[in-house]
Amino acid sequence: MKEEQKPIEDHEYDGIQEFNYPAPFWWQLFFYLSILFAIGYYAHYEIGMGASSDQRLQEAMTEIKRAQILNQPTGPDTRELLAMVSNPEALKTGKEIFTSKCSACHGPDGGGLVGPNLTDRFWIHGKGEVNDIYKVVHDGVLDKGMPAWGALLSTAELNTVVAYVKSIQGSTPTNPKAPQGQEIK
Ligand code: HEC
Repeated sequence: MKEEQKPIEDHEYDGIQEFNYPAPFWWQLFFYLSILFAIGYYAHYEIGMGASSDQRLQEAMTEIKRAQILNQPTGPDTRELLAMVSNPEALKTGKEIFTSKCSACHGPDGGGLVGPNLTDRFWIHGKGEVNDIYKVVHDGVLDKGMPAWGALLSTAELNTVVAYVKSIQGSTPTNPKAPQGQEIK
Protein backbone atom coordinates (compact mmCIF):
# COMPACT_ATOMS: atom_id res chain seq x y z
CA MET A 1 0.00 0.00 0.00
CA LYS A 2 2.81 2.38 0.97
CA GLU A 3 4.54 1.70 -2.38
CA GLU A 4 1.59 2.86 -4.41
CA GLN A 5 1.03 5.99 -2.47
CA LYS A 6 3.44 8.24 -4.32
CA PRO A 7 2.32 11.80 -3.96
CA ILE A 8 2.82 13.92 -7.06
CA GLU A 9 5.29 16.64 -6.20
CA ASP A 10 4.02 20.13 -5.61
CA HIS A 11 0.48 18.88 -5.55
CA GLU A 12 -0.29 19.60 -1.97
CA TYR A 13 -2.78 22.24 -1.14
CA ASP A 14 -3.78 23.10 2.37
CA GLY A 15 -2.40 19.78 3.55
CA ILE A 16 -4.35 17.77 0.94
CA GLN A 17 -2.11 15.59 -1.20
CA GLU A 18 -2.93 14.34 -4.65
CA PHE A 19 -2.02 10.73 -5.44
CA ASN A 20 -1.52 9.10 -8.78
CA TYR A 21 -3.39 5.81 -8.68
CA PRO A 22 -3.99 4.00 -11.93
CA ALA A 23 -7.64 3.78 -12.95
CA PRO A 24 -9.26 0.50 -11.87
CA PHE A 25 -8.78 -2.48 -14.14
CA TRP A 26 -12.44 -2.69 -15.19
CA TRP A 27 -12.36 0.96 -16.15
CA GLN A 28 -9.25 0.59 -18.29
CA LEU A 29 -10.61 -2.51 -19.91
CA PHE A 30 -13.77 -0.63 -20.84
CA PHE A 31 -11.70 2.29 -22.10
CA TYR A 32 -9.54 0.18 -24.43
CA LEU A 33 -12.49 -1.86 -25.64
CA SER A 34 -14.29 1.35 -26.55
CA ILE A 35 -11.29 2.37 -28.68
CA LEU A 36 -11.37 -0.98 -30.45
CA PHE A 37 -15.08 -0.59 -31.00
CA ALA A 38 -14.58 2.90 -32.43
CA ILE A 39 -12.00 1.59 -34.93
CA GLY A 40 -14.31 -1.20 -36.01
CA TYR A 41 -17.25 1.17 -36.25
CA TYR A 42 -15.26 3.67 -38.30
CA ALA A 43 -14.01 0.98 -40.68
CA HIS A 44 -17.52 -0.42 -41.10
CA TYR A 45 -19.47 2.77 -41.64
CA GLU A 46 -16.96 5.35 -42.87
CA ILE A 47 -14.36 3.46 -44.89
CA GLY A 48 -17.07 1.23 -46.29
CA MET A 49 -15.92 -2.25 -45.43
CA GLY A 50 -19.46 -3.24 -44.55
CA ALA A 51 -22.88 -2.31 -45.96
CA SER A 52 -23.67 1.33 -45.19
CA SER A 53 -27.02 2.28 -43.72
CA ASP A 54 -27.92 3.71 -47.14
CA GLN A 55 -27.31 0.35 -48.79
CA ARG A 56 -29.24 -1.42 -46.07
CA LEU A 57 -32.13 1.01 -46.58
CA GLN A 58 -32.03 0.41 -50.33
CA GLU A 59 -32.13 -3.33 -49.86
CA ALA A 60 -35.03 -3.05 -47.45
CA MET A 61 -36.93 -0.75 -49.84
CA THR A 62 -36.41 -3.16 -52.74
CA GLU A 63 -37.76 -5.96 -50.59
CA ILE A 64 -40.78 -3.84 -49.60
CA LYS A 65 -41.54 -2.88 -53.20
CA ARG A 66 -41.30 -6.50 -54.26
CA ALA A 67 -43.72 -7.52 -51.51
CA GLN A 68 -46.10 -4.71 -52.51
CA ILE A 69 -46.04 -5.78 -56.14
CA LEU A 70 -46.72 -9.40 -55.27
CA ASN A 71 -49.60 -8.45 -52.98
CA GLN A 72 -51.56 -6.24 -55.33
CA PRO A 73 -55.04 -7.72 -55.64
CA THR A 74 -55.47 -6.85 -59.31
CA GLY A 75 -56.84 -8.59 -62.35
CA PRO A 76 -56.00 -8.02 -66.01
CA ASP A 77 -56.14 -4.23 -66.01
CA THR A 78 -54.53 -2.90 -69.18
CA ARG A 79 -53.41 0.38 -67.64
CA GLU A 80 -51.85 -1.38 -64.72
CA LEU A 81 -50.15 -3.98 -66.92
CA LEU A 82 -48.71 -1.22 -69.10
CA ALA A 83 -47.52 0.67 -66.02
CA MET A 84 -45.74 -2.49 -64.90
CA VAL A 85 -43.95 -2.73 -68.25
CA SER A 86 -42.03 0.43 -67.29
CA ASN A 87 -41.61 -0.48 -63.62
CA PRO A 88 -38.15 -2.03 -63.14
CA GLU A 89 -39.15 -3.69 -59.86
CA ALA A 90 -42.14 -5.40 -61.46
CA LEU A 91 -40.02 -6.49 -64.43
CA LYS A 92 -37.37 -7.90 -62.14
CA THR A 93 -39.96 -10.04 -60.37
CA GLY A 94 -41.52 -10.95 -63.73
CA LYS A 95 -38.15 -12.03 -65.05
CA GLU A 96 -37.58 -14.27 -62.02
CA ILE A 97 -40.92 -15.95 -62.62
CA PHE A 98 -40.21 -16.24 -66.35
CA THR A 99 -36.85 -17.84 -65.64
CA SER A 100 -38.28 -20.40 -63.27
CA LYS A 101 -41.63 -21.18 -64.99
CA CYS A 102 -41.41 -20.28 -68.66
CA SER A 103 -37.80 -20.45 -69.87
CA ALA A 104 -37.86 -24.26 -70.14
CA CYS A 105 -40.23 -23.93 -73.11
CA HIS A 106 -39.69 -20.36 -74.31
CA GLY A 107 -35.93 -20.14 -73.84
CA PRO A 108 -34.04 -18.19 -71.16
CA ASP A 109 -34.35 -14.96 -73.18
CA GLY A 110 -37.77 -15.68 -74.71
CA GLY A 111 -36.32 -16.74 -78.06
CA GLY A 112 -38.43 -19.91 -78.10
CA LEU A 113 -37.74 -23.64 -77.73
CA VAL A 114 -40.77 -25.94 -77.62
CA GLY A 115 -42.89 -22.81 -77.25
CA PRO A 116 -42.82 -19.93 -79.72
CA ASN A 117 -40.43 -17.00 -79.79
CA LEU A 118 -42.01 -14.29 -77.61
CA THR A 119 -39.75 -11.45 -78.75
CA ASP A 120 -40.65 -11.29 -82.44
CA ARG A 121 -43.62 -9.65 -84.22
CA PHE A 122 -45.33 -12.98 -84.96
CA TRP A 123 -48.17 -14.07 -82.72
CA ILE A 124 -50.35 -17.18 -82.78
CA HIS A 125 -52.76 -15.77 -80.19
CA GLY A 126 -53.73 -12.12 -80.36
CA LYS A 127 -51.44 -9.31 -81.37
CA GLY A 128 -48.90 -9.27 -78.60
CA GLU A 129 -50.75 -6.63 -76.56
CA VAL A 130 -50.64 -7.01 -72.78
CA ASN A 131 -54.22 -8.23 -72.68
CA ASP A 132 -53.58 -10.81 -75.40
CA ILE A 133 -50.53 -12.09 -73.54
CA TYR A 134 -52.47 -12.13 -70.27
CA LYS A 135 -55.24 -14.19 -71.81
CA VAL A 136 -53.04 -16.87 -73.35
CA VAL A 137 -50.85 -17.11 -70.25
CA HIS A 138 -53.90 -17.27 -67.97
CA ASP A 139 -55.90 -19.78 -70.04
CA GLY A 140 -53.02 -21.66 -71.66
CA VAL A 141 -53.30 -23.62 -74.90
CA LEU A 142 -53.64 -27.03 -73.37
CA ASP A 143 -53.78 -29.09 -76.55
CA LYS A 144 -50.59 -27.42 -77.81
CA GLY A 145 -48.64 -27.86 -74.59
CA MET A 146 -48.91 -24.35 -73.13
CA PRO A 147 -50.04 -24.71 -69.49
CA ALA A 148 -52.84 -22.57 -68.03
CA TRP A 149 -50.95 -20.42 -65.57
CA GLY A 150 -54.09 -18.83 -64.14
CA ALA A 151 -54.43 -21.80 -61.81
CA LEU A 152 -50.75 -21.99 -60.96
CA LEU A 153 -49.72 -18.37 -60.32
CA SER A 154 -51.29 -15.63 -58.22
CA THR A 155 -52.83 -12.75 -60.16
CA ALA A 156 -49.96 -10.49 -59.14
CA GLU A 157 -47.38 -13.03 -60.32
CA LEU A 158 -49.29 -13.40 -63.56
CA ASN A 159 -49.29 -9.62 -64.04
CA THR A 160 -45.56 -9.29 -63.53
CA VAL A 161 -44.68 -12.13 -65.88
CA VAL A 162 -47.05 -10.74 -68.54
CA ALA A 163 -45.42 -7.32 -68.17
CA TYR A 164 -42.03 -8.98 -68.52
CA VAL A 165 -43.05 -10.81 -71.72
CA LYS A 166 -44.31 -7.49 -73.11
CA SER A 167 -41.02 -5.82 -72.15
CA ILE A 168 -38.86 -8.26 -74.13
CA GLN A 169 -40.75 -7.65 -77.38
CA GLY A 170 -38.30 -6.45 -79.99
CA SER A 171 -35.27 -7.71 -78.07
CA THR A 172 -32.75 -9.96 -79.82
CA PRO A 173 -32.51 -13.43 -78.28
CA THR A 174 -29.32 -15.39 -78.92
CA ASN A 175 -31.05 -18.32 -80.63
CA PRO A 176 -34.41 -17.14 -82.01
CA LYS A 177 -36.95 -19.73 -83.13
CA ALA A 178 -38.46 -19.31 -86.59
CA PRO A 179 -41.61 -17.15 -86.66
CA GLN A 180 -44.98 -18.77 -85.91
CA GLY A 181 -48.41 -17.23 -86.41
CA GLN A 182 -49.36 -13.91 -87.94
CA GLU A 183 -47.01 -11.00 -88.34
CA ILE A 184 -48.27 -7.90 -86.57
CA LYS A 185 -47.46 -4.78 -88.56
C1 HEC B 1 -44.44 -26.81 -71.16
C2 HEC B 1 -44.01 -25.80 -72.10
C3 HEC B 1 -44.43 -24.36 -71.83
C4 HEC B 1 -44.26 -23.63 -70.70
C5 HEC B 1 -43.66 -24.07 -69.39
C6 HEC B 1 -44.75 -22.29 -71.00
N1 HEC B 1 -45.19 -22.25 -72.29
FE1 HEC B 1 -45.97 -20.62 -73.22
N2 HEC B 1 -46.34 -21.74 -74.87
C7 HEC B 1 -45.99 -23.05 -75.04
C8 HEC B 1 -46.42 -23.50 -76.35
C9 HEC B 1 -46.19 -24.89 -76.94
C10 HEC B 1 -47.07 -22.40 -76.95
C11 HEC B 1 -47.71 -22.35 -78.34
C12 HEC B 1 -49.18 -22.62 -78.22
C13 HEC B 1 -49.84 -22.73 -79.59
O1 HEC B 1 -49.19 -23.24 -80.51
O2 HEC B 1 -50.99 -22.33 -79.69
C14 HEC B 1 -46.99 -21.31 -76.00
C15 HEC B 1 -47.50 -20.05 -76.22
C16 HEC B 1 -47.30 -18.97 -75.40
C17 HEC B 1 -47.70 -17.62 -75.71
C18 HEC B 1 -48.41 -17.17 -76.96
C19 HEC B 1 -47.42 -17.01 -78.07
C20 HEC B 1 -48.06 -16.60 -79.37
O3 HEC B 1 -47.34 -16.55 -80.37
O4 HEC B 1 -49.26 -16.33 -79.41
C21 HEC B 1 -47.30 -16.83 -74.66
C22 HEC B 1 -47.47 -15.34 -74.54
C23 HEC B 1 -46.69 -17.71 -73.71
N3 HEC B 1 -46.70 -19.00 -74.18
C24 HEC B 1 -46.17 -17.29 -72.50
C25 HEC B 1 -45.71 -18.15 -71.52
C26 HEC B 1 -45.36 -17.74 -70.19
C27 HEC B 1 -45.39 -16.31 -69.69
C28 HEC B 1 -44.99 -18.84 -69.52
C29 HEC B 1 -44.57 -18.96 -68.07
C30 HEC B 1 -45.48 -18.48 -67.07
C31 HEC B 1 -45.09 -19.97 -70.43
N4 HEC B 1 -45.54 -19.50 -71.63
C32 HEC B 1 -44.74 -21.27 -70.11
C33 HEC B 1 -45.32 -23.85 -74.14
C34 HEC B 1 -45.00 -23.49 -72.83
